[in-house]
Amino acid sequence: MKFFLDTANIDEIRNAAEYGLIDGVTTNPSLVSKEGRDFKEILLEITKIVDGPISAEVVSIDAAGILREAYDLAKLHQNIVIKIPMIKEGMKALKQLSKDGVRTNVTLVFNANQALVAAKLGATYVSPFVGRFDDISEVGMDLIGDLVQIFDNYKFQTQVLVASIRNPIHVKEAALLGAHVATMPFKVLEQLLQHPLTDIGLARFLKDWEKVPKSTRR
Ligand code: G3P
Repeated sequence: MKFFLDTANIDEIRNAAEYGLIDGVTTNPSLVSKEGRDFKEILLEITKIVDGPISAEVVSIDAAGILREAYDLAKLHQNIVIKIPMIKEGMKALKQLSKDGVRTNVTLVFNANQALVAAKLGATYVSPFVGRFDDISEVGMDLIGDLVQIFDNYKFQTQVLVASIRNPIHVKEAALLGAHVATMPFKVLEQLLQHPLTDIGLARFLKDWEKVPKSTRR
């Protein structure tokens, strides 16, 4: 499973890139708004840190506007993937972008039929939002298994990119279900590495090492 970082924050991306675990980055208008910086400038900076797909979202809601923004963003760098909302006009634009070989990520996907439509129109990724289901007392992860199975049934090339990840359990469940990508906040990426018993165990090893005669240590 690929790991993408869900952020527009350069410090977080630099930090995460040091682990060598980051296969790509996803941004959205809300994440970009937190940075108070020029969108394209942020994207270009990300391309210098991460050599992988970087999702940049359009904000137009008509097909012509979406296409205009998409071509403008796509020409910034070969790794830019155009993020399009799962709306009718977005799907019109998606068909054209697929024809033109522009990579896409269909976002705000909340059911299997939306994902099926996006896959039929040639989306590179679909982004089901698991956390937002959990927020309204529904199990977001239920959708992931369905999407993986549907794409596999028909051998779609479209990848299931699990988005709106809020905790490490989401990552584990996405992996168990065979999702292709999990995009997660920096905090969750760090949580994947942690276990209190690891820390306790290491502290004990280091303490015991002190008892080994200094002259015999490496
Ligand atoms: O990038 C889309 C998605 O990951 C947003 O997550 O936490 O705002 O639901 P969240």
